[in-house]
Amino acid sequence: MITTFQQHVLHEQQRFPGATTEFSWLVSGITLATKMIESQVRRAGLTNILGSHGEVNVQGEVQQKLDVYANEALIHCLSLRESIGIIASEENEEPLVLRHDSPASKYAIVFDPLDGSSNIDVAVTIGTTFAIFRRPDGDKAGAPLEWVLQPGRKQVAAGYVVYGSSTVLVYSAGNGVHTFTLDPLVGSYILTKENLRMPERGSYYSINESYCDRWPGVYAKYLNRLKSGEMGRRYSSRFVGSMVADFHRTLLRGGVFIYPPNTDHPEGKLRLLYEANPVAFLAEQAGGSASDGRQPILDIQPRDVHQRTPLVVGGRAEMEEFERCLAEG
Ligand code: AHG
Ligand code: MN
Ligand code: MN
Repeated sequence: MITTFQQHVLHEQQRFPGATTEFSWLVSGITLATKMIESQVRRAGLTNILGSHGEVNVQGEVQQKLDVYANEALIHCLSLRESIGIIASEENEEPLVLRHDSPASKYAIVFDPLDGSSNIDVAVTIGTTFAIFRRPDGDKAGAPLEWVLQPGRKQVAAGYVVYGSSTVLVYSAGNGVHTFTLDPLVGSYILTKENLRMPERGSYYSINESYCDRWPGVYAKYLNRLKSGEMGRRYSSRFVGSMVADFHRTLLRGGVFIYPPNTDHPEGKLRLLYEANPVAFLAEQAGGSASDGRQPILDIQPRDVHQRTPLVVGGRAEMEEFERCLAEG
């Protein structure tokens, strides 16, 4: 018999005494919204959803129509869930404060509604990433920003949906990583892999090498190690340009995904809260790890909702080699 995502979440909840169904109601907002997004993605080109929206977002990037649609779908589906106090999105400069001082609201959710904007118009894999935090201080509402400016280690659940050759939801609530594939005939995400583990050693590295002359030296050194065969194999290259797609392959096949800092982006390009943190959480849950070149991604104390971070995320062997390169200076 099939297990739907909803059934999985309800089942996981039973482990906690006194748990209610509010968390499964919360995450059902994510599955509903991502099904709405996926239906637009699948018909893109036939409908009027491709191309630029004409606005520039808080990151200074041109918003695509699908960025805007995906953001609206998530906000529409999540804002009615009474357990959500705060929503922060890549596409909104300020977090949306819904009802954070109500005793019923216990969670904050952060997301990148559409990851891989440059790939939308060319039918290449894109995705949605999200992370959920519990309100920081039990009963006190606290300042809205405190709800989202928590280290990634405090994520109670995180995941992404990848709109690829199939639509896959990858999810962890701190009890392993599980994947669910959208069955378009049933209309539900169905459990397809339980307790996914990353291969200890993979054979691909994934990085935009065109910036190599602008990286700090350690990244060039690390890449040489991967390519030269010094690590027991010559790693091959894969780069989609949608972090979700590149990470998804890295999670399943092993290897390493890297977005270094460079002289134009000294803090890197990817956003800590809704890009690096969810994939770091999943990587650790699956036996890998993630670093910003100084510390584990999940230990970074965020200062800003849209703060950027360098990201190196991969399997055990690749991450150990990266740490060795750092230690050698
Ligand atoms: P977004 O579409 O949400 O702005 O994110 C795009 C990001 C990420 O998905 C990808 O890894 C990276 O941009 C690619 O950047 P480069 O084109 O600089 O390689
Ligand atoms: Mn993104
Ligand atoms: Mn985005």
